[in-house]
Amino acid sequence: MNASPEQPHAPRVVLGVSGGIAAYKACELLRRLTESGHRVTVVPTAAALHFVGEATWAALSGRPAATETWASVHEVPHVRIGQQADLVVVAPATADLMAKAAHGLADDLLTNTLLTARCPVVFAPAMHTEMWEHPATQENVATLRRRGAIVLEPAVGRLTGVDTGKGRLPEPSAIFEACRRVLARGTQERDLAGRHVVVSAGGTREPLDPVRFLGNRSSGKQGYALAATAAARGARVTLLSANAELPDPAGVDVVRVSTALQLREAALKAAVDADVVVMAAAVADFRPAEYATGKIKKVDGVEPAPVALVRNPDILAELSAHRARPGQLVVGFAAETDDVLAHGRAKLARKGCDLLVVNEVGDGLAFGLDTNAAVVLAADGAEVPVPHGPKEALADTVWDQVVTRLRAADAL
Ligand code: C5P
Repeated sequence: MNASPEQPHAPRVVLGVSGGIAAYKACELLRRLTESGHRVTVVPTAAALHFVGEATWAALSGRPAATETWASVHEVPHVRIGQQADLVVVAPATADLMAKAAHGLADDLLTNTLLTARCPVVFAPAMHTEMWEHPATQENVATLRRRGAIVLEPAVGRLTGVDTGKGRLPEPSAIFEACRRVLARGTQERDLAGRHVVVSAGGTREPLDPVRFLGNRSSGKQGYALAATAAARGARVTLLSANAELPDPAGVDVVRVSTALQLREAALKAAVDADVVVMAAAVADFRPAEYATGKIKKVDGVEPAPVALVRNPDILAELSAHRARPGQLVVGFAAETDDVLAHGRAKLARKGCDLLVVNEVGDGLAFGLDTNAAVVLAADGAEVPVPHGPKEALADTVWDQVVTRLRAADAL
């Protein structure tokens, strides 16, 4: 059965499936792709067919699975499938499949397809942690990324058997979102390929006692949009997530933090080899001077002492003042309730960052919504207004500004 609302000009997607147990999750990805109107040809490897059979792929895609280099030879499938694709996504991508792709081997239909494809290629790896971390795999991944392929970072969690660690296939919904973004960019260059970007998102929580904290209303959506769009543009992304209740974007290394001090530590660590650091998180300026190990309450009718606060370090100012590598770009965000531009310019100077994205916040503006409007202010004097629109559009404008400046620095 195929419930596909497929249009004649629908994007052609090749779903390559290599031989890992996570192949069953590719069925869910396939369903999402077909239901959203993509024409999907599934190319499973012989090993993949041990996990999920041909009938399942055919039923879910509405067309026969392409399994044989030697079938229908008159149609030259080993060349045609790759040539005609708008996107090739390999999920799961095993260590073996990526090794073959990195070295240009072509001993089956999927590896032939990868050699003939001129469209964007997304690999969603799944394997045991040891295999992912092995220098051979890491070098193959680096090779594929250098050539412009998007290799998603595996997720962390339960692996086959009793193991847990890095190596899980990202959630099918997240792989689908990554594919959608890549298709939307079309043949546009992966202009962040080879770059490591660090993005902080969400809002810090400063604990008062075991049940209370000082926090803020940041949802993390803008930071997550920055991370997801950077991944679609080919970057290796580290997302420092402070209390955001959002699904992990596929292909992004997510580091969870809660307090400003934890965020500072994670940011300084991740920044060491970063080309860009974007501080989109709302960081509490103050934290309680002391943490009460028991719940703060009235004792015998006596009110508790007022909460004393101490200042948190300004992470953005620190990152800007002590760049971890020459030419590293630092980007800040500023939410203002009034006189937005004047405050933004003053803050840009005070923090010492390269770009500052200023937006107006208040009742019904920005927080928790999927849309935003802002102005990107640059230390070199540029001011780029971004009209009200999806947070992804603002994210893309930020990356456009970043890429221009990275390239200018490369040309020096
Ligand atoms: O000063 P303000 O909090 O408005 O500045 C916002 C910017 O500074 C954001 O980019 C935020 O992530 C960063 N910030 C920081 N450390 C703080 C406070 C804010 O990095 N303690």
